[in-house]
Amino acid sequence: MHILVLHGPNLNLLGTREPDVYGFDTLAGINEALTLLADDLSISLTCFQSNSEGELIDRIQAAAHDCDGIVINPAAYTHTSVAIRDALSAVALPVVEVHLSNIHCREEFRTRSFIAPVAVGQITGFGPDSYLLGLRALFNHIKKGL
Ligand code: DQA
Repeated sequence: MHILVLHGPNLNLLGTREPDVYGFDTLAGINEALTLLADDLSISLTCFQSNSEGELIDRIQAAAHDCDGIVINPAAYTHTSVAIRDALSAVALPVVEVHLSNIHCREEFRTRSFIAPVAVGQITGFGPDSYLLGLRALFNHIKKGL
């Protein structure tokens, strides 16, 4: 099983970006924890971050050929991107949407997700654990379907 983990814009700044909201963990640290979990689950993982909507879409399209599912933190694109949602629908892979912060108890504009309706589920508010829970949930979901 091969899973793609996608990180959206500004998540490369984790560690120094608004630590009161996002904590002090870096993206490299999160990817390392995900890789350890992937090893435990005996699956392979590709992690990719971009600040560009087009690059994220290109990676989603490529995943149709080489991945079994996607864990995505679309960051701000969660609330704006019909294009990322359409790409996820197009590839028809199982998707889990994750967020470090709880998007439902922040500003009103963050409560709307364009991605949630095309995801298996959404995990939000558990810091880096959101990613680990998301990977486990996606793994279990895919295994059930195998
Ligand atoms: C985020 C929440 C989004 O609203 C925000 O734009 C982000 C990060 C999170 O992980 O909590 O960049 O996706």
